Amino acid sequence: MRVLLVGGGGREHALALGLQADPEVTELHCAPGNAGIAEIATIHPLVISDNAAIVALAQELNVDLVVVGPELPLVNGVADELRAAGFATFGPSKAAAQLEGSKNFAKEVMHDAGVATARSATCTNRVQIEKALDEFGAPYVVKDDGLAGGKGVVVTDDRDAALTHALACQKVVIEEFLDGPEISLFGISDGKTIIAMEPAQDFKRAFDGDEGPNTGGMGAYSPLPWAPSDIIEQTHHDVLAPMIAEMAARGTPFVGLLYAGLSLTDHGVRVIEFNARFGDPETQVLIPRLKTPLGSLLYKAATRNLEGVKLEWRKDSAVTVVLAARGYPSDPQPVGEIAKMPAIADTHVFFAGGGRILSITGIGDDLTDARDRAYRGISQIALDGSFYRTDIALNASIAEKGN
Ligand code: AMP
Ligand code: GLY
Repeated sequence: MRVLLVGGGGREHALALGLQADPEVTELHCAPGNAGIAEIATIHPLVISDNAAIVALAQELNVDLVVVGPELPLVNGVADELRAAGFATFGPSKAAAQLEGSKNFAKEVMHDAGVATARSATCTNRVQIEKALDEFGAPYVVKDDGLAGGKGVVVTDDRDAALTHALACQKVVIEEFLDGPEISLFGISDGKTIIAMEPAQDFKRAFDGDEGPNTGGMGAYSPLPWAPSDIIEQTHHDVLAPMIAEMAARGTPFVGLLYAGLSLTDHGVRVIEFNARFGDPETQVLIPRLKTPLGSLLYKAATRNLEGVKLEWRKDSAVTVVLAARGYPSDPQPVGEIAKMPAIADTHVFFAGGGRILSITGIGDDLTDARDRAYRGISQIALDGSFYRTDIALNASIAEKGN
């Protein structure tokens, strides 16, 4: 099977690793890729927002499967164009990608599907905004309706800051604050059947102790020894399956990766958000743990053939730590050259982009072991002008020891 993977970040590097390990995948191409991906796939230059160029490349390479990584081309409808050109495509249509592209749309589908989420109001003027802020109260949660590259959500106790952000959005979703640990749980869908992956947790704030600005993600780990033992079944039953059924009933089936960001509240599991693609950096801990061959799995999803498929996982734990440029996320500064890549057994290095430089995933018997390997690796990269969090998976590894 010849595969074209679209994207060029840490997520795609991890997906490339999984695809390359599948014996069914005979040729692996990635566009635009990055320097790390170039070591395991043939990379092709490409502008990620150029749908026509993506389709033309798939044609030129005559691939059997296209896997689309990032949200931008999905929301731009590249999957529709690829399917129209006859390619088996892993990634939702433009209409289905609206689950990520519009917070208001996601709320409507959740409502119709009976999926539990924060109570919310969608507002387009100041009167509505102020009413919603006062109804839900602090902490205020204010979300730009559209894609905002990770800058769309403000959670704050400061009503003025909440109001300022809300007024800057054309359409804004204001909602109740959900109090509980957050997890990411991904489902692989063929439009009718969705298979839940194991959960992961990511660390969104820039600095230790969850301080600092929201980022694309500074680290992640999986599995979650502290999570309820039935979390996968429960999320499949209460969230993923009803969403897929509702999207199919609307005539816009969701084929691809449905990312559920969940809050485990005292009142049960609540959806914080959906994304229409693999999460980054969660993918860097999930793919190294997944035993099921990735290419065949995504091909089955793309060709509506997932029924009866079961995922197999390694018992190992995985922890990934992101190395970012100082100033990330608002103003990443140029960094020096990487002096040497560490050669630590049971680690993977994934190259990133856009302010995040790379991530190192440690694999071990438990989280403590995986963490040690990841941190041993990252501490050996002498890179001027970079930083990383030192507390990724720390609490979970301490809790695990207590079990
Ligand atoms: P997003 O950009 O949609 O991933 O949201 C960024 C972060 O904002 C989430 O990971 C949560 O930590 C936080 N967040 C979003 N919605 C809520 C909510 N209703 N209650 C509490 N935190 C939230
Ligand atoms: N890990 C957060 C995201 O991929 O959006």
